[in-house]
Amino acid sequence: MVVDKKILYSGIQPTGIMTIGNYIGAVSNWAKMQDEYNCIFGLADLHAITVRQDPIEYRKRATSFFAQILACGLNVEKSIVYFQSHVHQHTELQWILNCYAYVGEMQRMTQFKDKSAKHEENINMGLLDYPVLMAADILLYRADLVPVGIDQKQHIEITRDIACRFNSIYGDTFTVPDGYFPTLGAKINGLQTPTAKMGKSDADPDNAVSIIDEPDVIMRKFRKAVTDCDRKVKFDLSEKPGISNLLTIMSALTGTPICELENDFANADYKTFKEAVGSVVVESFKPVRENYARYISDKSHLQQIASLGAERASYEAEKTLTKVKRRIGLVDKARRTIVAVEK
Ligand code: TRP
Repeated sequence: MVVDKKILYSGIQPTGIMTIGNYIGAVSNWAKMQDEYNCIFGLADLHAITVRQDPIEYRKRATSFFAQILACGLNVEKSIVYFQSHVHQHTELQWILNCYAYVGEMQRMTQFKDKSAKHEENINMGLLDYPVLMAADILLYRADLVPVGIDQKQHIEITRDIACRFNSIYGDTFTVPDGYFPTLGAKINGLQTPTAKMGKSDADPDNAVSIIDEPDVIMRKFRKAVTDCDRKVKFDLSEKPGISNLLTIMSALTGTPICELENDFANADYKTFKEAVGSVVVESFKPVRENYARYISDKSHLQQIASLGAERASYEAEKTLTKVKRRIGLVDKARRTIVAVEK
């Protein structure tokens, strides 16, 4: 990593589909930050097993997700891109951090409560411990900045709390990270339920658009997008959530301000407007689709990229983990501390 650059860490779980919302709100920003920061991107495949996954399906999906984040413009020469499960230091640090995290604070996390309600039959320890694994992800790499969706804010706060708690006992060990919550276009809603975030794991396949959907699928989903009966292309979140969402998508992808788009489509009917938004999405994601097709068709190259990423990640992670182990008084494997103690 480059010495005078700050460190940025982010992760994404390989569940559901990667949506244009994930791209606009998160992954497109990752690609842009690669020059300014030392960037590390983890595919959080250990987080995702807190809910049951079918093994065959999961392996395929995780591979596809890895190819998709690469296809969004991550440059593996500049950034470290890897599978979380390939770097054993994550779970090792998680165990240590567990001893500095309280059961009560984990039980109070909003996401834990939501997921427990949703998966009543499987409220496992991993679900409760999810934030500590995330803290380990971030703290291992001494990240300064963590770009995430606003729904992850509480997880960043708990990471900071754990880091500060540890530092106050053992002295400066962890970098206390800042969350970064992009505002513009950060929240893309569903096409069928425009009042709620476009979910990765939505039951209705027409609600979310994948970054690798084929053009005809994209167009069909946009033609079916829910609007209202007012017939005016105008931004109004409370009265016109559907149209506002479409305007947000178009603005985020073209860089044209929403007020300008309102002017452009002042005399257009909804069908024309929806098709225009669909076409922008088709065009904008053409490079992503093409990159993806290239990555996914060459599995051995993908494997090579993953191994290299894991090796580089592990090298960085080990530095932090060794330091942590020394701080808490574990006997050092390399430094002959047993001999020293005997003397
Ligand atoms: N929990 C995050 C999410 O669901 C994904 C994630 C895992 C992550 N580890 C991370 C994000 C570390 C940022 C940093 O969106």
